Amino acid sequence: MGSISVSAVSKRFETGDVDVTALDAVDMQVRDQEFVTLVGASGCGKSTLLNLIAGFETPSSGQVVVDGAPVRGPGPDRGVVFQQTALFPWLTVEQNIAFGLSLRANRDKGEATPIVERLLERTGLAAFRKRRPAELSGGMRQRAAIASVLAIDPSTLLMDEPFGALDALTRSIMQDFLLELWEARRKTVVLVTHDIDEAIYLADRTIVMTAHPGRISEVIEVDLPRPRRYEMRSTAAFIRLRDHVTQIVRAEAMKGTAPLDATAASSAMPDSAMTATMNAHTK
Ligand SMILES: Nc1ncnc2c1ncn2[C@@H]1O[C@H](COP(=O)(O)OP(=O)(O)O)[C@@H](O)[C@H]1O
Ligand SMILES: [Mg+2]
Repeated sequence: MGSISVSAVSKRFETGDVDVTALDAVDMQVRDQEFVTLVGASGCGKSTLLNLIAGFETPSSGQVVVDGAPVRGPGPDRGVVFQQTALFPWLTVEQNIAFGLSLRANRDKGEATPIVERLLERTGLAAFRKRRPAELSGGMRQRAAIASVLAIDPSTLLMDEPFGALDALTRSIMQDFLLELWEARRKTVVLVTHDIDEAIYLADRTIVMTAHPGRISEVIEVDLPRPRRYEMRSTAAFIRLRDHVTQIVRAEAMKGTAPLDATAASSAMPDSAMTATMNAHTK
């Protein structure tokens, strides 16, 4: 259980005297247990879309339906992981993982101890159970955060650049870790990233959004075999997908950028300038 249906969803933010249209008539369907990644230029509305599914925001128009019921707010059926997911700094790893289970809303999720034990094992944190967040590496902290969300066994995982703060090596290890968890306990996952390799490596489908205001630009079926292996990144099929997605994302990012001169077409911009532009947008 965890199908998501986003129908004709628009979202406007009123900030002082200017209105920002973050999303414009977005339609998106995610099947139960599907792994979908969302990519797009910075500011295109990826986080807004995720927040609407999570129930942290309400659409200005249109509807978000999860498992057949319109979203009216956050719920234990949807676990949310951010780039820096908050752990309670004064609680140990195991206390953090157990915390959600102690809330009244989650009393029916089962007895805490075996659930926490299993997650400590699965996330490789058993030896670090008594540590507090400040005593963990970035990757361990993010694993603890994911474990604390998985503890309440949500049918849907909504992840907003969950590995964005990690170095490249830790990041690729975390990608495999996430896939392993997903293979073992299928959940519906919507993961936002601006790392195109990550988007393809993880996904059944990658959805590319247009630059501001956010719409769906293209939906790409990632027909790579599962389970995914790190080595797949150098296969022709992977590279073809990456080039394709990169092209769309680049073209979209360009639209929000003033041309260097009157004749500058999107293909004429050197990569270094493009990278600088994207970095500037990411800040
Ligand atoms: N709470 C808010 N108030 C006003 N504007 C917002 C708010 N949240 C997002 N926006 C605006 O909506 C657009 C999309 O933002 P966001 O969803 O964060 O993009 P992304 O996650 O793709 O970088 C941006 O122009 C952003 O400034
Ligand atoms: Mg964002």
